[in-house]
Amino acid sequence: MKSGDGARGTPGEQGGFIPAVDLASEYAALRPEIDAAVKRVLSSGRYVGGPEVEAFEKEFAAFCGAGHAVAVASGTDALRFALLATGPEGGERRPGGEPAEVVTSPLTFVATTEAISQAGGRPVFVDIDPLTFNLDPALLERALTPRTRAIVPVHLYGQTADMDPILLLARRSGAAVIEDACQAHGALYRGRPAGALGDAGCFSFYPTKNLGACGEGGLVTTASGEVAGRVRRLRDHGQSEKYRHLEEGYNGRLDALQAAILGVKLRHLGAWNERRRLLADRYKTNLRDLEAKGDELALPAEAAWARHAYHLFTVRLKRRDRAREALRERGIEAGMHYPVPLHLQPCYAWMGLRAGSFPEAERAAREVLSLPLHPGMTEAQVDRVCKALRAAVDAG
Ligand SMILES: Cc1ncc(COP(=O)(O)O)c(C=O)c1O
Repeated sequence: MKSGDGARGTPGEQGGFIPAVDLASEYAALRPEIDAAVKRVLSSGRYVGGPEVEAFEKEFAAFCGAGHAVAVASGTDALRFALLATGPEGGERRPGGEPAEVVTSPLTFVATTEAISQAGGRPVFVDIDPLTFNLDPALLERALTPRTRAIVPVHLYGQTADMDPILLLARRSGAAVIEDACQAHGALYRGRPAGALGDAGCFSFYPTKNLGACGEGGLVTTASGEVAGRVRRLRDHGQSEKYRHLEEGYNGRLDALQAAILGVKLRHLGAWNERRRLLADRYKTNLRDLEAKGDELALPAEAAWARHAYHLFTVRLKRRDRAREALRERGIEAGMHYPVPLHLQPCYAWMGLRAGSFPEAERAAREVLSLPLHPGMTEAQVDRVCKALRAAVDAG
């Protein structure tokens, strides 16, 4: 389970348990619309792909200002297919060849690098900018080599990476830019939507995301008809037409029930993101003095170029683990995104990267704590979290 996933904990003191996210209440608020969409799909007899998926693709493309949107079965599929579709036909998967290098951040969910490896590439890490938690463009140039085929900036927590310098370096080196926008539905970079900034954008509709399905789902955005066509083929066993397989592909299609539910929720995404921003502001207003008092707490910074979608409200705390435990004792669920940077995960031991290789990602992994944030949260709940956090910090 990646984050709260609507799990219920033990009721805390004064006012009950505050979950990191609350998916059941999100459904309850939209029950008539979602129930009608589900009934419509069940009665239609079209359960995989079809008009529901096509309609959602059109709506999401318009939302992102992208020419094309191709719905797939997960964010991981979106990344895998986008990488394959922007690469040479079958090239990276050819046995025996040198793997292409794909540059990304070590502070992300493992799906980013799984997709890189599964597309036949080799993940290469670049440390993060400590203010935004995203790939630091100042460190990118020295990581690029003649074998670099793509760069995957991750728009972590709902704030885009600093894309202009990344795109410039990518253009100079001939690398494709695949945005991992799995946490950034509705985020803006210099006024432009995440997903419309690089060669392709990859979204996840895992239930806890700003736009979440009632199951798994994902989507690729792109301005290129060619890339979109290749992703469409890859998601459907490499078929150009029924039973004509131009290449081996995957079973990576979105089902119609998820598309119909996502279509309903998409109409609310703008308002939900506004609500997230309002609650994030309240956290900041409440905690600003605590941040100013010492170096114990740092609040998330919104970069000048960004419109943060606050998928997560992630603070830094010097004594993170103690604060997290203190919140838990008061019935407040807080997450860590992520407690171990990818280069130190057992599955990447083969890279031989030791502690100290990416100091900012490693420091973030020790310090980050994601406080509860979802559109259904009340101001009073934010205030309660702040009070509990203040008590934890003051207790030392
Ligand atoms: C940054 C990031 N990349 C990729 C993914 C993978 O998405 P999914 O779980 O839909 O496969 C996620 C979602 O968990 C994510 O947060």
